[in-house]
Formats: sequence, structure tokens, C-alpha cells
Amino acid sequence: MIFDTHAHYDDEQFDIDREELLGSMKEAGIETIVDVGASIETTKKALDLAHKYDFIYAAVGVHPSEVEELDDSKLELLRSLSRDEKCVAIGEIGLDYHWPDPDPELQKEWFIRQLDLARQEKLPVIIHSRDAAADTMDILKAQHAEEIGGVVHCFSYSKEIARQCVKLGFYIGIGGVLTFKNARKMVEVMEDTPMDRILLETDCPYLAPEPFRGKRNSSLYLPYVVQKMAEVKGISTDEVISITRENARTMYGLQDR
Ligand code: NI
Repeated sequence: MIFDTHAHYDDEQFDIDREELLGSMKEAGIETIVDVGASIETTKKALDLAHKYDFIYAAVGVHPSEVEELDDSKLELLRSLSRDEKCVAIGEIGLDYHWPDPDPELQKEWFIRQLDLARQEKLPVIIHSRDAAADTMDILKAQHAEEIGGVVHCFSYSKEIARQCVKLGFYIGIGGVLTFKNARKMVEVMEDTPMDRILLETDCPYLAPEPFRGKRNSSLYLPYVVQKMAEVKGISTDEVISITRENARTMYGLQDR
């Protein structure tokens, strides 16, 4: 059964058919989903979903593009939300320099403070990093993120950066982008990264795999990503599914649940 390590079913794009869609997951071979918060509001929605569905877990955190909403009291709110029994990680947190705002210094401050939160609450982190490889790696190393652990989700950097992440004990999150026609760099990362460090993710509603590129994504399309991973690694799709499931259960601490 497939483990989707990163989804946003709280997104309004699912408002029209969320229940029907989530109700079809088990039959389609989707066993577990982690719904990832990106703001205070979506974090609460992720926890609501996790309470409504036994196969959904939640991650609690504020995305770098949303950090302007944070202050000391909001951080304490995140801490209390992270103690929910269905919360399995802090995320998504990190750096996104694709747009000029928010100020990179502010992004760094809240990335570090949320890393500290994860360390204190003994939870892994889900890292979002776009166009910010150098600063992300500097912070992960300086903060001894190897003591925290987690995943660099929707990985978009070179295999050299992937190796540094793996060396810090992190997983590499890979989804629909791997199937895109221009995905040479991602295929290289997939080839180079040991299978026991790969996590399967959708980031839905974003980043649907081929042949659905540009459409609304969902966990139901993960078999297309699995197929591509199997091709690149020269293993069976069953092996891809079972290894990535095991990796996800280990990282999220779900082995005993
Ligand atoms: Ni995401």
C-alpha cells in the first residue's frame, strides 16, 4: 500500500469533492497520507482532517511564504498544536527565495525557530526549500539538523546537494516532477540517492505527474510516479511502494501505530 508523505487536502481546490475523493483512497491502494500545514489556518485544517480520517496524519508548521503571520504567541500555538496525537512532524518550514517577499532574514529567523520547536518536541521536520540551497544547507548544518531529522520535500536541487542532505540523515521527497519531460536533474538525483532515503509524495493539489501535468493532483496519481521510480532504479513497482512506505513509517515514527 502507498504512503503519500506530503499532501494538502485542506486546500480549497478539494472543497467540491474532498469527502468522495478521500473515501476512495483505500480502495485505490493509498494506505496513509500526511496532510501538511503551511500556515496557522491550514495547520488547523490538516489536524481536523487527521481527526476525521484514521489514515490521515498531520504536520504542523508555517511555510516560508507565510512567516509574516508569526510572532511569539503564534509559535506557542504551533507548539500546543504539535502535541496533538495525530501530529507527526513540524512542517512545512524552510526558505523560498523565488519571490522577493517575505524578507529572507525573516524567513531564516522562523525557519530556525521552527527547527528548534521540532527539536524540543522531538518531531521530524518537513523542509520546503526553493532557490535557496546554500542558505538552507548552511542553516541545517549550523543548527545540527542531523539531531532532528526529516525530509527535504519536493526536492529540486542537484545530486550533490541531495548527497549533503542524506549525509545529515535526511530523506529526499520526490513526486510528480520526476515524470516531467524536462526532469533530467531529478532523474539524476533519483539514480544517485539510495532507495532507503527516498520518500514518495504528491504535494497535491500541485505538481500532478505526466500525463496529468497542470491538472489538479491527488494521491490517486502516485502510481505514475512509482512507475517512473521503478524504471530509474531498475526495481519493481512493488519494491518502490514497500520501501518508500517503510521509509515514511520510520521517519514519521509510525512503526508502532
Ligand atoms: Ni507542500
